[in-house]
Amino acid sequence: MANQRLRALLRWTKWADWAIAAVGFTIIIFVLTFFFDSSSTDGAASSVNLPASDLVDLTLLHNAKDRGALCLDGSLPGYHFQKGFGSGSNNWLLHIEGGGWCNTIESCSTRKTTALGSSNLMERQVSFSGILSSDPSQNPDFFSWNKVKIRYCDGASFAGRPESEFKNGTNLFFRGQLIWEALMDELLSVGMSNAKQAFLTGCSAGGLAAVVHCDDFRERLPQHATVKCLADASFFLDESDVQGNRTMRSFYDDVFHLQGVAKSLDKNCLSRMGNSSCLFPREFIKNIRTPVFIVNPAYDFWQIRNILVPDVSDPQGYWQTCRLNIHSCNPNQLEILKGFRNSLLNALSEFQQKNEAGMFVNSCYIHCQTWMAETWHSPSSPRINSKTIAESVGDWYFNRGAVKLIDCPYPCNPTCYNMDFTRH
Ligand SMILES: *[C@@H]1O[C@H](CO)[C@@H](O)[C@H](O)[C@H]1NC(C)=O
Ligand SMILES: *[C@@H]1O[C@H](CO)[C@@H](O)[C@H](O)[C@H]1NC(C)=O
Ligand SMILES: *[C@@H]1O[C@H](CO)[C@@H](O)[C@H](O)[C@H]1NC(C)=O
Repeated sequence: MANQRLRALLRWTKWADWAIAAVGFTIIIFVLTFFFDSSSTDGAASSVNLPASDLVDLTLLHNAKDRGALCLDGSLPGYHFQKGFGSGSNNWLLHIEGGGWCNTIESCSTRKTTALGSSNLMERQVSFSGILSSDPSQNPDFFSWNKVKIRYCDGASFAGRPESEFKNGTNLFFRGQLIWEALMDELLSVGMSNAKQAFLTGCSAGGLAAVVHCDDFRERLPQHATVKCLADASFFLDESDVQGNRTMRSFYDDVFHLQGVAKSLDKNCLSRMGNSSCLFPREFIKNIRTPVFIVNPAYDFWQIRNILVPDVSDPQGYWQTCRLNIHSCNPNQLEILKGFRNSLLNALSEFQQKNEAGMFVNSCYIHCQTWMAETWHSPSSPRINSKTIAESVGDWYFNRGAVKLIDCPYPCNPTCYNMDFTRH
């Protein structure tokens, strides 16, 4: 089972890489890898062995059509809902799926032919594991809560606006903000309006959406409810790549303008910066009033492969083996990766001062650690101070103690699960 999940992770990370390859880097190779992989058998195998109760049906947002809240291709957005039980009946955990962004008409047009742009192509059932699991041994604090996995189909972290759509035949819908609003109304109407405790979480681009909408989420819930947010592998850095180019900044700038995300972003930040820099968590997270927890590897492979060393920045292939497996990096490359870790810690320093802030920054070569049992909570999962991510997040959520954990630099932590892209 563990093996199958790890294989699923490998498949997913290729997929996530592809989604960013929306960035325009080596898109063909990634698309081919993705389709090749999804036609292999492990996709089916990883679901077949799971207990039936872990498989949760897709629900389409039926209030969405009248409100114009549509996926990139005009289909209805969707989510998977599992009802809470026992002591969790009035508690709600939402998890927003990740998958990069699209920054051009071309990349959004490609994306709408995938599950990240069309509910017609989404799996009808997904398995709930890690932070979404209903098994107390896998998810000790949240197993009995109402749980919702929100599918990502707009390409701009639920922050796009219809005003940005080109009306000249591209047939793309930039409705992320409308999807968010329709989804909130639907969940409130099926019981979330009685929530006593609520937790908005997400991975990667989904974690970015969770923090972008965190205060809005707080405002929609009852005043007496405890409401917190968590961003997993979403602390994207505004760093130069190894050639000194602002690859990520210009990518975000394209997303920001193409999809019209400004109105969904923090007003304080926009009045200070006035531009797409407000999509970077460093710039807006300090203004969030709701408590936030950051789970982020200091050696996030997505950030290393797309921000620090995107393919275009390494035409000689000097970084090729290091990008595939951190154990293959030479001392000089490890020094550069350590510098990237320092940039992350520096970007987090102001957030870290906040009393209510929580963090778990481990030195692993991984991306998104909350949605898989193997990294969230298992005998072999990554730990800092002997606590798993699940235990650390639970301690913070339930005020069992302050949690601001920063690991020593790679390779000091033997509990890491480090992604190996050479393994198939
Ligand atoms: C549609 O119009 C916009 C704005 O004039 C333009 O930038 C874009 O290139 C056009 N797209 C196509 C596919 O013609
Ligand atoms: C990156 O920067 C180098 C110079 O440092 C420049 O020659 C190159 O064209 C830039 N690449 C891109 C994709 O902008
Ligand atoms: C946004 O504004 C800041 C501060 O003026 C500037 O440093 C940065 O380059 C701008 N970013 C973009 C993408 O224009």
